[in-house]
Amino acid sequence: MAEILIRNTNERISGEEQVREFLESHEVLYEHWDVSKLSGELQENFILTDEQKAAVLQTFEPEIKDLAARRGYKIWDVITLSEATPNLDELLAKFEQIHTHTEDEIRAIVGGKGIFIIKGPEEIGYFNVELSPGDVISVPENIPHFFTLMENQKIVAVRLFIEENGWIAEPFEDPSFIKA
Ligand SMILES: [Fe+2]
Repeated sequence: MAEILIRNTNERISGEEQVREFLESHEVLYEHWDVSKLSGELQENFILTDEQKAAVLQTFEPEIKDLAARRGYKIWDVITLSEATPNLDELLAKFEQIHTHTEDEIRAIVGGKGIFIIKGPEEIGYFNVELSPGDVISVPENIPHFFTLMENQKIVAVRLFIEENGWIAEPFEDPSFIKA
């Protein structure tokens, strides 16, 4: 279940209803998938073969088709990150730049953990959304954000896109952002 940390005040928001309410009030989509549907070999497995990635997409086909029908996604895939990922540190350094996209950025976490850091309105500032398996989140288009891993440095996520160039990252310079 996702948790929120408001960076300026250190306020934490947890509990499904409260998290959903907070995210919806900032136009962030928040839904849930049942990850217990994954077969044993796909659970807590962060080094997936192409066949296993296809099996993940197969497992969640109804959920993917439902999102696609509601929100217009046309392409989807599975990404994995772990200590086995070549150049993980370099990759994370790239991810950790604040940026925007012309389409929304939707991720369904099927294993491991990750954090989206999202720019809220002035009175809130940046907030962290800490994601666990089953959490589905979509950062709205043109909202500054970035993604990083949590301490365990492992994640498997389904990504959905509307069009191939929709996920190009536009850097967003923000002197108000405080990293730590
Ligand atoms: Fe992004």
